[in-house]
Amino acid sequence: MATITAEHLTMTYAGRTAQDPITALDGISLQVAEGELVSLVGPSGCGKTTLLRILAGLEQPTSGHYQIRQRDPDRPPVAMVFQQAGLFPWLTVTQNITYGLRLRGLAAAEQAALAQRWLAAMSLERFAHSYPAQLSGGMQQRVGLARAFAYNGEVLLMDEPFGALDAQTRLLLQQTLLETVAQTRQTLVLVTHSIEEALTLSDRVLIMSARPGRLIGEIGVPFARPRDAITLRAEPAFSALVAEIWGSLRAEIEQARQAELHAA
Ligand SMILES: Nc1ncnc2c1ncn2[C@@H]1O[C@H](COP(=O)(O)OP(=O)(O)O)[C@@H](O)[C@H]1O
Ligand SMILES: [Mg+2]
Repeated sequence: MATITAEHLTMTYAGRTAQDPITALDGISLQVAEGELVSLVGPSGCGKTTLLRILAGLEQPTSGHYQIRQRDPDRPPVAMVFQQAGLFPWLTVTQNITYGLRLRGLAAAEQAALAQRWLAAMSLERFAHSYPAQLSGGMQQRVGLARAFAYNGEVLLMDEPFGALDAQTRLLLQQTLLETVAQTRQTLVLVTHSIEEALTLSDRVLIMSARPGRLIGEIGVPFARPRDAITLRAEPAFSALVAEIWGSLRAEIEQARQAELHAA
């Protein structure tokens, strides 16, 4: 049974003038099975963030509907990792991680144990009492990941979570994500601009068109788990799939670029 079901989601933002509305999403329908890892690729501005924000309950679609089926009433349905880490600057690393847990009413000891576990998983123990501004961008992003994992939503929505990181940190965190979702059995929807990252991390890659975003293709990822983020790239089947997805995306990226040039 599907954990996420979306039907005909459309999102139109009011533009600068009443004549100038922006249709970000146009009739997106998708299903994501329980425990499935799906990634979403598409040209910039095609509505990927909008789609995640709708699924997270942060935006109301203009039309269409969606459902997130919760199996465990004691677990929050959704956790989201934002493109920018989105930490509260006035809270310490630990306080940032426990913020949502406190809102959920977890006992202090339980909050502390979860914070400790995920700080360790992200190699951040030494920074438990630091403030975000004292950390590098990569460390801040790891705090955002620790916060989402500690929150333990049944569905994990990630919006280009590794986009701002250097290549080595990115590979290490991809590996951490692979190991973590294997343990937590979360359902994942990951937005990424990296085709390699999409193939490394997911079971299925959904391809979006240039704005207004529609789903134009879907590729099943055949690699067995557990996967290794580094050795996977050496497989010939991996580069063949990169080329196939790139083939679908290329015209859309070109179209998005033309649209940007005309808007400028
Ligand atoms: N709050 C908003 N108000 C108006 N337009 C928006 C808003 N958020 C996004 N958009 C527009 O919707 C389109 C899709 O944006 P977004 O979902 O951020 O795309 P992506 O994440 O794929 O780059 C873009 O043209 C963007 O400018
Ligand atoms: Mg985005």
